Amino acid sequence: MENKGTQRIETDRLILRQFRIEDAEPMYKNWASDPEVTKFLTWPPHKDVDLTRSLIEDWISRYAEPSYYHWIIELKGIGEVIGTISAVKLNEKIEAADVGYCMGKAWWGKGIMPEALRAVIAYFFEEVGLNRVAACHDVNNPKSGRVMQKAGMKQEGILRAAGRNNQGICDEVWCSILRNEFER
Ligand SMILES: CC(C)(COP(=O)(O)OP(=O)(O)OC[C@H]1O[C@@H](n2cnc3c(N)ncnc32)[C@H](O)[C@@H]1OP(=O)(O)O)[C@@H](O)C(=O)NCCC(=O)NCCS
Repeated sequence: MENKGTQRIETDRLILRQFRIEDAEPMYKNWASDPEVTKFLTWPPHKDVDLTRSLIEDWISRYAEPSYYHWIIELKGIGEVIGTISAVKLNEKIEAADVGYCMGKAWWGKGIMPEALRAVIAYFFEEVGLNRVAACHDVNNPKSGRVMQKAGMKQEGILRAAGRNNQGICDEVWCSILRNEFER
């Protein structure tokens, strides 16, 4: 494997790119301040845009690290930023990444996150040379499981009381795809 950092990725409907400081306002408005979006996430909704901006500043400073993978998702055409997708953990010893994602409610149900996840999986296998891409979701958040399935991941099993999110301690459903299962 060879880390290549957060490179721009384009799909039919989306541009996945590095954050810019001017993304703070739309990120805050479109998803980061919404408790419905963060219901099954590990961070609380942002109380003000200054928090969003300071987080983005920190993330931008990390783009110099080739092992840092954190994309903002932009809808082509209108140029609106609608969500994020990232490697929340990279294990170079086994050439594996765990990914996480979230998106504003206005864009749910259009197959957008499966499209973003497929593109990130392709990037990790074809460009970075990983062998495994995995993700997990709260058992009570099956719509995230649908995203994983649609992106070609298989369910591995359930880790009981293994995670904590805004709903408390939860059972985690783990899914993954291996390089030899991946077809473009
Ligand atoms: C989970 C999430 C990324 C799904 O993305 P998406 O682009 O809407 O994915 P899809 O369009 O493929 O829809 C997935 C499932 O969501 C459900 N869904 C569809 N439209 C919906 C809507 N308007 N409202 C709520 N759920 C909806 C359906 O169960 C759908 O599965 P189906 O296609 O089999 O019917 C998005 O709902 C989200 O950002 N949620 C909040 C953050 C989160 O939970 N992140 C994952 C943490 S593990």
